[in-house]
Amino acid sequence: MGEGVKSRLPAVTAMAHPNLALVKYWGQRDAARQLPLNASISVNLSGATTTTTVQFDTALEGDEFELNGVPPAPAALARVSAHLQRIRDLAGSTACARVRSRNSFPAGIGIASSAAGFAALTLAGTRAAGLALEARELSALARLGSGSACRSIPDGFAEWLVGSGEDSYAVQLAKPEHWNLQIVTVYFDPQPKAISSLEGHRAAPSSPFFEARLQQLGETLNTVRRAVLERDFGTLGMTVEREALSLHLIAMSSRVAEQPQLSGIYYWQPQTLALIHAVQRWRTEGLEVYFTLDAGPAVHLLVEAANRAALLEAVGGALGELGGQVLVSAPGMGARVVAGG
Ligand code: DP6
Repeated sequence: MGEGVKSRLPAVTAMAHPNLALVKYWGQRDAARQLPLNASISVNLSGATTTTTVQFDTALEGDEFELNGVPPAPAALARVSAHLQRIRDLAGSTACARVRSRNSFPAGIGIASSAAGFAALTLAGTRAAGLALEARELSALARLGSGSACRSIPDGFAEWLVGSGEDSYAVQLAKPEHWNLQIVTVYFDPQPKAISSLEGHRAAPSSPFFEARLQQLGETLNTVRRAVLERDFGTLGMTVEREALSLHLIAMSSRVAEQPQLSGIYYWQPQTLALIHAVQRWRTEGLEVYFTLDAGPAVHLLVEAANRAALLEAVGGALGELGGQVLVSAPGMGARVVAGG
């Protein structure tokens, strides 16, 4: 990194979007190396961004991290610092870094800020360290920060290949402009997650239905991959909806070792179920909309572009009673450098 010459390398800023899993990652083959038990498919959410600036500076005595203008909890700094260490190891450097990150969306609403965060950190950090990694290397590295972050590296629609190490990364399935799907995320008051995704992954194999899910996933992946490539909305929507329910059935029937008082994991809130009912009703009434859910109460609604206004009107009516907010996305770009580098 040329530290003898210069103590402070140029700052690099990268931007990334969170991604929404159409086929979910749930359960790990190897927790330490963040290897998944199954492949997954996602689309980047253009309506939400994380922008991260990294600068390595030998004058710093430790890594510094600021999120949305304030220092985050120590655990978040430790996670960022561990990722910076992976970058230092690759670059053969010992310089600490200053990291400033900003999210355009609120935390704790069911949009994985860690995916966008680690994708942006990986790109800004490696470039700031003077490295020029290929997309697949960036994706594999982002995976070590947060599993699903590997899918926020490619543009548009991505598939994360299971792999067994460096070959566990996401590849592009289709560009963002391939299909102008609209994703309306409905979220409710931020609430601390009772059970983290990490605990959910760990607990998943304890479900008596987990093997059945894994067996079904090969077909689900083929169907979703083909539906994306052929822009077959009806097939995509129904398959994605059933796939999300499969994850939640696993969660509800999982045993959390550290919390034996829980019979299962419930990520849903009453508003989640109300929207699930509303989606089924809207479809019966002729509005072709499908939902998917991650490990939280937020509901992500999928429609084709022509039905965007009709969906927003229907959601607006429902939210009068339920009290949530919406964020609208189209398929988004992957991680990219926006300044420096
Ligand atoms: C339900 O382990 O990537 O969103 O690092 O906590 O954000 P965090 O999550 P991660 O698990 C994501 C689980 C999921 C499904 C998915 O995105 O595939």
